[in-house]
Amino acid sequence: MRILLLGSGGREHALAWKIAQSSMLDELFIAPGNAGTRNHGKNLSFSPTDFESVKKHVLELNIDMVVVGPEEPLVMGIYDFFMKDPLLKNIPLIGPSMAGAQLEGSKDFAKKFMHRHSIPTAKYATFSYETLEEGIKYLESMKGPYVLKADGLAAGKGVLIIQDVEEAKIELQSMLSHEKFGAASKKVVIEQFLTGIELSVFVLTDGSSFKLLPEAKDYKRIGEGDTGLNTGGMGAISPVPFADAAFMDKVHNRIIVPTIKGLKQEMIPYKGFIFFGLINVKGDPFVIEYNCRMGDPETEVVIPRLKSDILDLFEGVATNTLSERDIQFYDKSAATVMMVSGGYPEFYEKGKVIYGLKSVVESIVFHSGTASDGPSVLTAGGRVLCVTSYGRNLEAAIEKTYDSVAKISFEGAYFRKDLGFDVL
Ligand code: AMP
Ligand code: GLY
Repeated sequence: MRILLLGSGGREHALAWKIAQSSMLDELFIAPGNAGTRNHGKNLSFSPTDFESVKKHVLELNIDMVVVGPEEPLVMGIYDFFMKDPLLKNIPLIGPSMAGAQLEGSKDFAKKFMHRHSIPTAKYATFSYETLEEGIKYLESMKGPYVLKADGLAAGKGVLIIQDVEEAKIELQSMLSHEKFGAASKKVVIEQFLTGIELSVFVLTDGSSFKLLPEAKDYKRIGEGDTGLNTGGMGAISPVPFADAAFMDKVHNRIIVPTIKGLKQEMIPYKGFIFFGLINVKGDPFVIEYNCRMGDPETEVVIPRLKSDILDLFEGVATNTLSERDIQFYDKSAATVMMVSGGYPEFYEKGKVIYGLKSVVESIVFHSGTASDGPSVLTAGGRVLCVTSYGRNLEAAIEKTYDSVAKISFEGAYFRKDLGFDVL
């Protein structure tokens, strides 16, 4: 098979690394990719949201399947673009339709969907500028902390958790008047605050059946002990110790099955990954959010734990035969630590030379934001590298990753040293 993978982060590097191991692969292209993905295929320099460029390359390169990494092209309707085009409609694309991607693209849509299908989630109400007064009354009727969510995509920054009701009212006004988050906060979801510990659960679905992937836990805050600003994710572990069989049974019965059935019942085409951002509230799972793609950095631990051929699974998705495909995992644990640029998630510099990559032999280095300059690899983003290791248990995987991280350096490099602190 000739595969085109869209995206440029650590998630895409991990997917490229796995696709490259498939016996079914003839050639892999990644657009735009990064300095890491070029080790597994050919990088092409166009944007995944430039659908005309995607089309041109798919046709010129005789691509057999397109795999979409990030949410943006999905929310913008790349699946529908393929389905509507006579030349593209028979080329399978791994990723949901625009309607399915609304699970991530609109928090209001996701909440209504969960309500329709009785999927456990925090109580909520949605407001617009026209109903600002009602929103303020709603806040006054609640106990804090107050959770305000911009309805649309806001690059992971659209959620505010505020202790003080007066401050929450000011933020609500600022969001609804577009001062904050622009058009993404035309509508705002106000939610009950849930207390518990979070985890990420993933499935791959062909729209009827699904395969559960290993669960993971992401460390989102910049500072140790989960303090400071939110980031795209500073590291991840898999498996998650508290996600035992009893808990995962509840996730399966109360969340995954109703979601897949709900999509089918509502005739929403969905062939791709679903990411369930969950919270464990005293043993019961609730949905915090859906994403229409894999997580990053969760992919960097989930995909290494997948033993089966990923292209066989994708082919099952494309041909509605996923239920007939076998899926197997490694028993080993995996941990990944994100090395970021100094200053991230606020201002940071790029273009720093990365040293020591070749001296890492015990771990897998997935590139997140890197670029190549001849033989050198340079930093090109806030999140730079994700260092993944296996271990017989989480402790061993984490320890091995920190040993490898110590061998890599670039000016201003920062990483969290406390992965797993809350579950081990
Ligand atoms: P989201 O972008 O929806 O994942 O929200 C970002 C983060 O805000 C989540 O990872 C949670 O830590 C937190 N969060 C979102 N919704 C809630 C909620 N209802 N209760 C508690 N924390 C929440
Ligand atoms: N790691 C969280 C995300 O990918 O959204």
